[in-house]
Amino acid sequence: MDILFKKNDLSGDTALIIGVYENLLLTKTAKKIDSLLNGALLKALKANSFSGKAGQTYELITVNALPAKRLVCMGLGKKEKTSELAACRIGAHAAAALLTSGETAVAFATDDLPPAAVGFGAKIASYRFTKHKTIFKAPVTVKEFYILTEKPQAAQNQYEPYFAVAKGIHTARDLVNEPANVITPITFAKRAEELQKYGLKTEVYDQVQLKAKGFNMMLGVAQGSINPPRLVIVQWRGKPEDKNTHVVLVGKGVTFDSGGLSLKPAKGMEDMKEDLAGAATALGTLQALAMQRAKVNAAAVMAMVENMPSGMAQRPGDIVKSLSGITVEVINTDAEGRLVLGDALWYAQERFKAPVLIDLASLTGAIIIALGTDYAGLFSNNDQLAAQLEKASVDSGEKIWRLPLDEIFEDPIISDVADIKNACASRAAGSITAATFLQRFILPETKWAHLDIAGVALREKNMLLGPKGGSGFGVWLLDRYIRDNLEQKN
Ligand code: BES
Ligand code: MN
Ligand code: ZN
Repeated sequence: MDILFKKNDLSGDTALIIGVYENLLLTKTAKKIDSLLNGALLKALKANSFSGKAGQTYELITVNALPAKRLVCMGLGKKEKTSELAACRIGAHAAAALLTSGETAVAFATDDLPPAAVGFGAKIASYRFTKHKTIFKAPVTVKEFYILTEKPQAAQNQYEPYFAVAKGIHTARDLVNEPANVITPITFAKRAEELQKYGLKTEVYDQVQLKAKGFNMMLGVAQGSINPPRLVIVQWRGKPEDKNTHVVLVGKGVTFDSGGLSLKPAKGMEDMKEDLAGAATALGTLQALAMQRAKVNAAAVMAMVENMPSGMAQRPGDIVKSLSGITVEVINTDAEGRLVLGDALWYAQERFKAPVLIDLASLTGAIIIALGTDYAGLFSNNDQLAAQLEKASVDSGEKIWRLPLDEIFEDPIISDVADIKNACASRAAGSITAATFLQRFILPETKWAHLDIAGVALREKNMLLGPKGGSGFGVWLLDRYIRDNLEQKN
């Protein structure tokens, strides 16, 4: 579905959506239509106890009284409360109202709402993943979604960055939705290379190069699979005259997590195609920055492996020497994310020496027990970075909640035979002990944040801003964080 901006003009014969605030406060366009209908609009709304609550819809059959062939009233909520995020949500409601209606073109008169934010909401809400369906595709019929506004060119310009973020979100969603026989470390690397058309620089290390460098924790996880690992490094250099890298994103890219020899139960195992969500979000964010030509130097380091049981697989009890030199006893091969990330985090710091490092990972089931499926867990060694991410979270509506890091959590990951171990005797504070493991690979001078997205990366049911399946969680949040805090403004 394409978002197009057009002058507010009610003569078109498309389906028309108009806004009504709470307590039946009509927008300018709604007032105009009400008078064209000799007051029938307001009467019909009252008769159908339409209140104007955000997202409420009422469809009015106007026969030949209006040029528009179909009229939908959209509740906008309280007038004073239309934040950018609220406008996005209204756009999503507007898209949903007619997406599968049979209409091919829809127009939404936005009046006082920010038109670009409305368009963004409509765009991400209209995402569908149907490429593998050959018999029945969910019938999205709307091809053109017109936003009617007084200044279409200005709105179009404001929409550009939103469009970039929407495309980044859709990339991340696609990569999570694709099954593990389609997205392997190798095909993920190919998808990353396809994004070079936006000006991204891509490097891919194969298992021979990883062995030579000493990524033994990552290779240990990968060794049970016939799909060999890849380390994918993508850079956006929007400040080419500056040699520094301002931020690095590190993503967990387990293309399928069977658990390895510590095999997971069958029920729900199919969801473990989502275990590359951290890498997918890192890549989607870089795409969004590149498409905006953001004045920042950013890198993504994505550690791609498949975690499988086989005669070649890593065993519980194995000891591996990490890239950093720390030795690790593998207690549970299903705690593979921290092994893969430990090497990627260390490499990211040595290579880029960036002041800010943010990792994303579907790391622990325990984060779902702690926070459910709407909040991602935030861990950070830096209060300022945590606060900046929390601000971006409020603005984007991608919810995060900070959990503690503390020396007391270091004891449970001490190994009897190696320096540390990858799983603890007790399940207590499982997400925190996982984050504490990661912190062993973080230099004290690095401002670091870890987002545990296990609960939010794959939606179990349809949401307002996207269907069930991959959510693309984190692209909007990180784009916002980077542009508000790291992008040079000039
Ligand atoms: N990929 C899983 C975590 C996960 C769970 C992601 C549910 C998405 C939804 C991770 O690799 C894992 O298996 N973690 C274990 C760690 C344990 C063995 C210490 C877990 O959470 O059970
Ligand atoms: Mn696992
Ligand atoms: Zn995993």
